[in-house]
Amino acid sequence: MQARIQKLAPNVINQIAAGEVIERPASVIKELLENSLDAKARHIQVDIGKGGKQLIRVTDDGVGIAADDLPLAVAAHATSKIVQFEDLTEVASLGFRGEALASISSVSRFTLASCQAGAEAGWQIVCHHDGSPLTPQPAAHPVGTSVTVEELFFNTPVRRKFLRMDKTEFSHVEEVVKRLAISHFDVGFKLTHDKRVIWQVHPASTMAEQQARVRQLLGKTFVEQATYFDIERLGMRLWGWVGSPDYFRSQSDQQYFYLNQRLVKDKLINHAIRQVYAELLYPGRHAAYVLFLTMPRAWVDVNVHPTKTEVRFQQSRLIHDFLVGSLGHVLHEPAASPQQVMEAVTNSPTERQTDDQASMEQRMDKPVTVDERQLALATMESSTLSPATRPPPLYVKQPQAAYTTAKASNTPAGRAIAQIARRFIVTQMDDDLLVYDYAKGKAWLTCRQLQRAYAENTIKTRPLLVPVTVEATTDVLDNFSRFASHWSKLGWQVELSGQEQLLLRDIPICLGQADVAAVFKQIIAYLTTHDEVDMDALLQTMARHSVVLQPLSVIAMNDFLTELTRETTDTAELERQGILRRLTEPMLQQYFTQDD
Ligand SMILES: Nc1ncnc2c1ncn2[C@@H]1O[C@H](COP(=O)(O)OP(=O)(O)OP(=O)(O)O)[C@@H](O)[C@H]1O
Ligand SMILES: [Mg+2]
Repeated sequence: MQARIQKLAPNVINQIAAGEVIERPASVIKELLENSLDAKARHIQVDIGKGGKQLIRVTDDGVGIAADDLPLAVAAHATSKIVQFEDLTEVASLGFRGEALASISSVSRFTLASCQAGAEAGWQIVCHHDGSPLTPQPAAHPVGTSVTVEELFFNTPVRRKFLRMDKTEFSHVEEVVKRLAISHFDVGFKLTHDKRVIWQVHPASTMAEQQARVRQLLGKTFVEQATYFDIERLGMRLWGWVGSPDYFRSQSDQQYFYLNQRLVKDKLINHAIRQVYAELLYPGRHAAYVLFLTMPRAWVDVNVHPTKTEVRFQQSRLIHDFLVGSLGHVLHEPAASPQQVMEAVTNSPTERQTDDQASMEQRMDKPVTVDERQLALATMESSTLSPATRPPPLYVKQPQAAYTTAKASNTPAGRAIAQIARRFIVTQMDDDLLVYDYAKGKAWLTCRQLQRAYAENTIKTRPLLVPVTVEATTDVLDNFSRFASHWSKLGWQVELSGQEQLLLRDIPICLGQADVAAVFKQIIAYLTTHDEVDMDALLQTMARHSVVLQPLSVIAMNDFLTELTRETTDTAELERQGILRRLTEPMLQQYFTQDD
């Protein structure tokens, strides 16, 4: 016979709730740090014992909790952060559910001590797990709060069994502290493990201090290659550091995205960022970035998931486009005016000689700023505006390419001298120095060829040895069918396999080395957002993806230059397309005589 229904005891309810949010020591740390930050702490210390299994203590100098409120702080559904349902539409704090401490205290030996400014003494409560009333006891405590969590999951052995080695648990804890330290520059953090100080960062108010913090936590290499930028538009601001495509990672461990200072994991945001990097990174490589997006709080619903890392946007399309436009502008725009090339050249030797801090400040004095008009112009490939303060590119001399001018032939586009950063081709024509963007140039050439072939219905295809599978969501299916008559004309043979999969069988030959699933999805994404299909836009997408950046021999460079000149002998056209930049001899003269 089925048991009778009864109400669960509060402690059991809390333990069940803890199951959702408290997975491991790192999740406790996230909740406790968020509380300290909500309490306006300026200094927070995190002490960990045995990876957090034995001890987790967070001490802050925030506003503290009144003695009488201590029992409420650990009660479920008790919070000081919202009062009524409507407040959820404009949550200003990181926490708002009034559940974290109740959950944590139900699965650990828990002590909460606090003191408010002006109070005579501090008070603390210890949670017993036996249902006995929580009575605050006087305790010596400076203004602020400390929460001590010992023996996490001592009463939920199943959970405890899932914990990994101390070292692993600690690395998760450290990652959480790091992630919050990056989003709260004005707060100092200190992290200790088994009584050893692991790292400490002081409150950072100036931009240089903030960048120094990013450098300390993410490493020197990240900061040196990243571009700092700041874009504000339509009530939104996006700023931070984007890693250059040359600095890719084999995993997504350096991807920090904050929405209104909250660390979020959101599909829409990830999609937008991936879309921008898609053409710049090989499949399987991951970008690195620290990005802060701020927007009016009412535009976002943060009450989506108990861990509060998922969000829902009111205007997702607008946000997606803003991200793609802004990041695309910063990342895809290698073309600089000759003046800007000169600046970069002027800056680069000095930057390399000065110490890192000075060069950082120099770079940060002039963040890339893009006004509204510029942003409207900024598309994935067409803007001629440039992030003038992009750090000088890595000058990689390819063994095949460098200093082999003796053998090099002349082309009307100049004589290839060197390839830089797998992307730029430097040539000499008479007394001028020319720099070609191979990525843009090759994409432009391929696009022209595709346009001609499309008009004649002769886009070449090639079968895939092993068909590539793409998950067919309703969205994908709808748009796939809507476009049914066009796929083969574009060089694709795609078929439905069962209910949930599409098989890519033949692909346009130019995409031989591309991530074809990504290109296909990008076409679908385009169809999803456009009622009227502009074939040129699709051909451009395919052309962009067809480009492979790799070391080129001098012969290959000259072949490319010959191909360009066959397409057009009008170098002004190439300059307009952002494919070519020219440093004339008078410009070089002027540059060097300035130093006399
Ligand atoms: N470090 C702290 N300093 C000051 N007050 C605190 C601190 N930690 C907790 N509190 C108080 O205790 C209350 C309960 O904290 P708890 O984390 O359980 O809930 P919350 O932060 O309101 O919401 P959430 O469950 O989303 O985190 C908070 O609303 C706050 O008033
Ligand atoms: Mg909280």
